Amino acid sequence: MILWLKALHIVAVVTWFAGLFYLPRLFVYHAMAEDQVSRDRFKVMERKLYRGIMTPSAVVVMVLGVLLIAQYPLEALAHMHWLQVKLVLVFALYGYHGWCGRLLRNFASDENQHGHVWYRWFNEAPVLALLAIVILAVVKPF
Ligand code: HEM
Repeated sequence: MILWLKALHIVAVVTWFAGLFYLPRLFVYHAMAEDQVSRDRFKVMERKLYRGIMTPSAVVVMVLGVLLIAQYPLEALAHMHWLQVKLVLVFALYGYHGWCGRLLRNFASDENQHGHVWYRWFNEAPVLALLAIVILAVVKPF
């Protein structure tokens, strides 16, 4: 059972990250777009990616993660320090996800406040989170 949950958990993480990497990339191009036709096309792409793929994947990741936690007795969880640190980083990742949603709404109403260089830096955050979280979950260093 636990291995099935883990496998599906990882699949949902992959689909979530497809969006966490690509949506800010769309923001880069959207911030550089100079005509209304392009801007309107980006709005549709961003909305479909966020609502259709990213948010459902984020929910599935959390549901399966909680089911995985439920497989362990409390005493065991208390000693899984890597998991506690992982959950803090995962919490921050959900914050990043929500931030993406707010930026998307700003773009949707043509009220974007950042330039493309800002979005290029913004795009790097999930890379760092992915690196740290996978090392914690797989290597379990403490
Ligand atoms: C609410 C969110 C999450 C919860 C509650 C959660 C919880 C868990 C738990 C309890 C396990 C089983 C650990 C074990 O049996 O050793 C697990 C496995 C795993 N998680 Fe998560 N997780 C969440 C989000 C994430 C995210 C965002 C990532 C990647 C960025 C991730 C990557 C992994 C990986 C790669 C494994 C497999 C580790 C292994 O056994 O090799 N998880 N997760």
